[in-house]
Parts: sequence; C-alpha cells; structure tokens
Amino acid sequence: MGSEGTNKLVAPPPKEVFWNAREICQIDGFWFYADFKESMAAFRSDFQPRSDDVLVTSFPKTGTTWVMALCHNILHRDDRVEDDVLTRMNPHELIPTLEVFFLTDQVQKDLVLESSGGGRLLQTHLAYTCLPEAVKNSGRGSKIVHVTRNPKDTLVSMWHFYNKVFECPAGGTSPFPMEGAVESFCSGVLPWGPFYEHVVGYWEESKKRPDDVFFLKYEDLCRDPKEHVRKLASFLGKPFPPVGDDEEVEKVLWLSSLGRLKELEVNKNVVSKLTQIPNSSFFRKGTVGDWKNYLTPQMAERVDQLTQLKLHGTGLSL
Ligand code: A3P
Repeated sequence: MGSEGTNKLVAPPPKEVFWNAREICQIDGFWFYADFKESMAAFRSDFQPRSDDVLVTSFPKTGTTWVMALCHNILHRDDRVEDDVLTRMNPHELIPTLEVFFLTDQVQKDLVLESSGGGRLLQTHLAYTCLPEAVKNSGRGSKIVHVTRNPKDTLVSMWHFYNKVFECPAGGTSPFPMEGAVESFCSGVLPWGPFYEHVVGYWEESKKRPDDVFFLKYEDLCRDPKEHVRKLASFLGKPFPPVGDDEEVEKVLWLSSLGRLKELEVNKNVVSKLTQIPNSSFFRKGTVGDWKNYLTPQMAERVDQLTQLKLHGTGLSL
C-alpha cells in the first residue's frame, strides 16, 4: 500500500479549538470535546441498555435540565416520601451525561444499581446516529425522550453558558464575541454539533418509532406545560389522572420548575464535584424569544435562513 493509503488509515479526526478555550474533534460527523473521547468510546461500545431505561437526549442548552427534572419527578412521584433528591443534587449530577462521565465511579455505580420505581433515568447529548448500537438496536421497550428548542434561543443560551464555564474566553472580562458564537453555531463546529443534523436525527426517529421516541419542544412546554407533561407521563407509562384532576401534574411542574430549582441552595453556590462547573450555570432566564435581546437583525436572519434550509422537507419547524 502506498503512503497515501496508509495516511488515510491513520488520519486522526479533524480538530478545532472551540471559542479559544477547548479542543474539540469530529467523530462520525459530530464534534466532541477531545478530552471526553475515551469516555465516549467506552459508552458507545460498552453500554448495556435495559428494556425499562428512559434516555433523555438533547442538544446542549435546549432544556435538558428541565426535562430531566420532569422525567425524574414523573417516574418517582409515587415513591417520593419526604426526601426530594433534587434538593441535594443538581439534575446533571443526579443524571450525568453518559458520554462524558461513563468511566467515573458514580456512573458505573448508577448503571448497575437496580432502579427503584421503574427503570433507569439516563441522559446523553449524543446525536442519534452516534448512540451505542445496542441502544439503537434495542427494539421496543427502552424509551428516548428528546427535547429541542428554537435555534436562536439555543444559541443565546449557549453563549451565556460557555461564557460562564470557560470564564470569559475572549480574555479579560469580555464575553466571547456574539459574532463568533453565531459563526460556530452556523458552521456546526461546536460541542455535539452540528445542531441541525442532531435534531433532525431524533425527529426522523420519532416519526418512525413514536412509541419509543418522544419528541418535545421547549417552547411547547412553556406554552402549555400541563398538556405536554401529561403527554410525557403517558409516554413514560405513568399517566396522570384525567384532565380536571390537575393536582399531581401541578406538583410535578412545580418540583421541576426553574423558579424552584434555581433558588435551591445546591444550585446557588455549589461547584459540582462531578461536572466541575457551578450548578447555577444550568439555570438562567428560561424565556422564549430571549434571542431578541442579543442577536442583531443580520445575525437572526443568518440563523433563520440556515434553519429554513436545514429543516426544509422534514416537517419540523423550530
Ligand atoms: P436560558 O439560558 O435561555 O435561560 P440545558 O438544560 O439544556 O442546559 O438548557 C439550559 C436552558 O434551560 C437555560 O435557558 C435555562 O435557564 C433553562 N432551564 C433550566 N432549567 C429549567 C427549568 N427547570 N425550567 C425551564 N427552563 C429551564
């Protein structure tokens, strides 16, 4: 074999530095933090799904924290006594991102634990095509809950989040320029990106397998939380009493609400030992349309055009 062929075989994955802060590399069409490569590979090859697993999937900043809290509170609403674990643990510590923390003791322990109250609740940001083959081939039984969000609000939420966790990647006290954030979002070169291919993968799968893949939009949850949480609970096999008897739905919504979680001591001043970032960084405003306060008309137009192009023909609107 000539040197050209050999080079092809050993070519390392493409790499970039995201926001002057973290190295990311492209694997199977999506970008990941380079330092999580080993953990991600282990998750993809070694994870053993169970038929009663619930896997929350999302692109970062689309409502993961909210949906994890909702699923947790729905699944455990019968067995909750006085102790509410979310008062002690941030949802991202309780349900760690599998491809990031797969090799940690906590996740290894969580994965083998016999679950109480109906199945393991798990979470990943991996695109559908990058999920462990065992998950994609697991057939009926194990469930995926996917949440997504308007791309411009996702981008703005991401801008706030990464500015906080990377501590001003532009240097000094300045935030990273929004132009740069728009560029990385639109080019797709960002952790777990590209956004559009990510969301379309789950959307298509939810159309093929609606009983196994539940597709949820952040905006729908905000607009009519009771309706969508009722649908989610039915999908999870834990339906609420009929409409009109709303006490339990309201309780789950309150327990999972931004207002409540944000004010808990654990989410105020604690830097998570597991994620190494302040728990507070997962909670901000939760407002639909907040992008209007941050994007110029030109930036918004650029994202809108890309959204139209990428979602054309899919039947999905965001
Ligand atoms: P904003 O930055 O627009 O406020 P993720 O959980 O995927 O990281 O997404 C974070 C976004 O969800 C943030 O949006 C955050 O404020 C919002 N969020 C976090 N917890 C929430 C909750 N319980 N209810 C509604 N929104 C929530």
